[in-house]
Amino acid sequence: MLTSTPSVLRLQRTIVVGKRAYHDLQTLPNKKPAISYGPPGYSAVSGRTVTVFGCTGFLGRYLVSKLGKLGTQVIVPYREEDEARLFKPMGDLGQIVRMEWDIRDENTIAECLRYSDTVYNLVGRDYDTKNFDIRSANAVGPGRIAKIAAECGVSQFIQVSHLNASKSSPSKFYQAKAEAEELVKEAFPTATIIRPATMFGYEDKLLTNMAVWPIWWKLNEAQTKIRPVHVFDVAQAMANLLANPQLSRTLNLPGPSTLTYEYLLDLVTSVTLQPPSQAPTLPKSVATVLSKLAQNIWWPALSPDEVTRRYIDDAEVPGDWDAVGVQPSEIETHALTYLRRYRSAVNFVRPAVFPPRPSPPAAVSPHTSFFDIS
Ligand SMILES: NC(=O)c1ccc[n+]([C@@H]2O[C@H](COP(=O)([O-])OP(=O)(O)OC[C@H]3O[C@@H](n4cnc5c(N)ncnc54)[C@H](OP(=O)(O)O)[C@@H]3O)[C@@H](O)[C@H]2O)c1
Repeated sequence: MLTSTPSVLRLQRTIVVGKRAYHDLQTLPNKKPAISYGPPGYSAVSGRTVTVFGCTGFLGRYLVSKLGKLGTQVIVPYREEDEARLFKPMGDLGQIVRMEWDIRDENTIAECLRYSDTVYNLVGRDYDTKNFDIRSANAVGPGRIAKIAAECGVSQFIQVSHLNASKSSPSKFYQAKAEAEELVKEAFPTATIIRPATMFGYEDKLLTNMAVWPIWWKLNEAQTKIRPVHVFDVAQAMANLLANPQLSRTLNLPGPSTLTYEYLLDLVTSVTLQPPSQAPTLPKSVATVLSKLAQNIWWPALSPDEVTRRYIDDAEVPGDWDAVGVQPSEIETHALTYLRRYRSAVNFVRPAVFPPRPSPPAAVSPHTSFFDIS
């Protein structure tokens, strides 16, 4: 084809994309230049190289996709090769680089971030595993990555924490997240800390888990209040940080509304059109014993620390969405998209009628939608 010959492509780039301008040059905090070039979109080149540790998880895959679309070269460290396969189509040839790593091995960490100007650390696990307890996965590991990033001259470090991170929390996970913030700041003083609330999306552990295991969300009489946030919004906020490498502060990213588990369970049953759960509300002591027993099965089940967290309200701190240029969306806007798969075939195309909010905010009203699959 005529338009695919190199000379025609070069001509197109010269005429259509135009000349270089000052906005193509970005000076990073360590004074290194990043120069963008090429056509916009999938084949763009932003001049930035980024490593995303913890990319194979729920948030990570959306972040890598957004970074790829910006023309960023992304290093995607993985532990299990199959988990890294989905990244292949997220960027043009050579843009997504997969590398095997081990969080305990400083050499593999250094190899993964040696050529990067920015490092995102999304590594986290909210339960103990056979090889890593909560503290080593959430605090010690991130501290190690930040130390190596500083030694290798990385200019921007972004650490994902949790909205409820606190050293005085009864939850070991929230304590470890607070310790990670300290370790990261110690090793990399200009790091940006991101504190999202509980996220919802296709692979979440919120809406999808409520649809399958409502009994575990009835703890505390389902009165625990959380501020659910859409995973796309958090990923977009994190991708936007690339344009603002000097922003070294803690950013709280809660959802726009504070909702009880009771409301969310109602929302799930009204969208899935399944009968409400008749399961009893378990006392905390019984749930803790059951969760300890459940640790003997080989797949991840509700952990004792998770039982503790089911009694902790999300921190009522203001969101910092303005700093990252994102407007967070309400959970009702996306609930049908993520919950439709739990409907029976008979109900599949029925409209979703949401339960009334206990105190509905002015901006959001229950609405009806047939095909909300945006
Ligand atoms: N999901 C939420 O609602 C939520 C809310 C607030 C904050 N956060 C935080 O946001 C970050 C991302 O969350 P997520 O939901 O995407 O988590 P996720 O789906 O559980 O993914 C966690 C990532 O961390 C990696 N990881 C865990 N333990 C590791 C270890 N010992 N060594 C190497 N890699 C390890 C996992 O790699 P493998 O795939 O190899 O296991 C995976 O890539 C986490 O730090 C989480 O604590 C999540």
